[in-house]
Amino acid sequence: MATTAKPLRIDIPVANDERKFPQGFFWGVATSSYQVEGAWNEDVKGLSIWDTYTHKPGNIKNNDNGDVANDHYHRYKEDVALMKNDLGANAYRFSIAWPRIFPNGTGEPNAKGLDFYNRLVDELKAAGIEPFATLYHWDLPQTLQDKGGWQNRDIAKAFADYSGYMAEKLGDRVKYFFTINEFRSFVEGGYQGLNVQVGGGKIVHLGGAPGLQLSNGELNQVRHNAVLGHGLAVQAIRSRGSADAKVGFAENMLIAVPVIETPEYVKAAEKATRELNADFITVLLEGRYTDAYLKKTGKDAPKFTDDDLKIIASPLDFVGINVYKPNIYVEPSNDAQGYRSVPINASHPKMQASWHVFDPECIYWAPHHVRSLWGAKSIFITENGCSASDVVSPDGRVYDSDRVMFLRAYLTQLQRATADGVPVKGYFLWSAQDNFEWSDGYSNRFGIVYIDFKTQKRIPKLSASFFRETVRRNAVA
Ligand code: BGC
Repeated sequence: MATTAKPLRIDIPVANDERKFPQGFFWGVATSSYQVEGAWNEDVKGLSIWDTYTHKPGNIKNNDNGDVANDHYHRYKEDVALMKNDLGANAYRFSIAWPRIFPNGTGEPNAKGLDFYNRLVDELKAAGIEPFATLYHWDLPQTLQDKGGWQNRDIAKAFADYSGYMAEKLGDRVKYFFTINEFRSFVEGGYQGLNVQVGGGKIVHLGGAPGLQLSNGELNQVRHNAVLGHGLAVQAIRSRGSADAKVGFAENMLIAVPVIETPEYVKAAEKATRELNADFITVLLEGRYTDAYLKKTGKDAPKFTDDDLKIIASPLDFVGINVYKPNIYVEPSNDAQGYRSVPINASHPKMQASWHVFDPECIYWAPHHVRSLWGAKSIFITENGCSASDVVSPDGRVYDSDRVMFLRAYLTQLQRATADGVPVKGYFLWSAQDNFEWSDGYSNRFGIVYIDFKTQKRIPKLSASFFRETVRRNAVA
C-alpha cells in the first residue's frame, strides 16, 4: 500500500533536524569539589564545613562522607578522558574547594591546592573541553565557620579575596567563572532547613552543613551577606582576572509554570517568579529588594545600605540557572499580587529523589522568565539531571531508561526555548558521574557514568550514549 506519511524523524538527515540547538552551543557535564574529589586532608587542604558535618554521626544517610568520594583528586585524568571520549562533552563545570586554596579561609595560599586545579585545567584544555569554574559550591573553610560563617558579613570580603586570587591564577586559561552555586540551597539548607513542596501537601525537609537553625531575621541577613559576597567577588574577578573573563552565578531559581499557555497565565507566572526569587535572583539582577519582599519580611528584613545593593547588582556576563523541577503552577488572579498558586497534586509524577517533581516544561519557562523579566542576553543551564535506581546488569551495563526519558523530555523543552530565541548558550548535565549526594550520601545516583564506590570503576550508563549522540548532533537524540 502506498503511503504519504511523513518519514520518521530518525530518517531525517541530521543537518535538517528541526530539534537542533544553536551553533556553538556548550554541552557540558558538572560536578562539585566536595562531591567528587575526596583527598579531604591531603596536600595541606584545610577542613571544610562539610568535612565537619559529615564526620558527625547521624547527619548523613548511612553515615557516608566525602573523604574519598570518587577519588577525582587522583583520577582526574581518567575522568577528563571519559568526558571527552565517552560523553563527548565540550565543557566541564567543576568547583574549587576554597579550603584547598586557603586552608584557613584567608591569609597564606596553599600552592599544592592551586596546583591541582592548574593540572585539571591543563588536562581539560588539552582535551578540547572548556573549563567553567565555580568558586563556591558550599565547602566553606571551617575556620571561617568558626567566625560565624555567612552570618558574619566579613566572610563576603574573604570570599571576594579568594575569588580574585583564583581569577588571577587561572584566568589565562579559564574564561568562565561562576561565583556561587545555589544560594538558596546552602543558605536555607545550612542555616535553617529547607522545606520543599512535593505534591498533595507533602513537604520534604532538606538540611546541610553547618546544620544551624536560625530565626527568620537571622536567616535573611545570611541571605544578604551571601549576595553581597557574590557582588564583591564579581568585582574582584573583574579587577584581578583577565580582561576577557566572563562571570555570573548559578542559582536554583524557583520556577513558576503557567498552567495554560496564554498571555495572561504567562504574565502571572512571570510575576510569581520575580517575587519567589526576591531574596536571590531578583535582587542580584535588579539591585533592589521588591516592595512585597520588604513588606513580607517586615522587622525580619535584612539590614543593608544602598551601596550594598549596587555591589550586589554588579553587571554580569550571563545568568546561570540550575533547573530540576517546577516550584509552583500558577493562574492569573485579580488581586494586587496578580497570580494564584495552584496546588501540586499528590499523584504528580516524580523522579527518584524525594524532592524531585517531574515536569519538563520548567526548563522551557525558567530561561524564558529570565529573559522576559530581566532581559538576560546570555543564559546557561548550569545543572539539570535526575537520580535513578541504577544497578550494574549481569552483562556489565547500566540501563537507566528513566534518566534517558527525563533528559530527552527536558532537552526537547530547552530546544523549544532556544527556537523561540531565548539566548541559552549552554547546558550542563548534573552529573558527570555518580557522586556524594549531600544528606543522601551515596544512595542517590545522579551520574551518567556509574561509579562502583568500592573499586572506583567507572561505567558509562545508557544515558551517557544518549548524551554523547545529542552532543554529536547538536540536537535532541
Ligand atoms: C546541587 C548539586 C546536587 C544536585 C542534585 C543541586 O542542588 O548544586 O550539588 O548534587 O542539585 O541534588
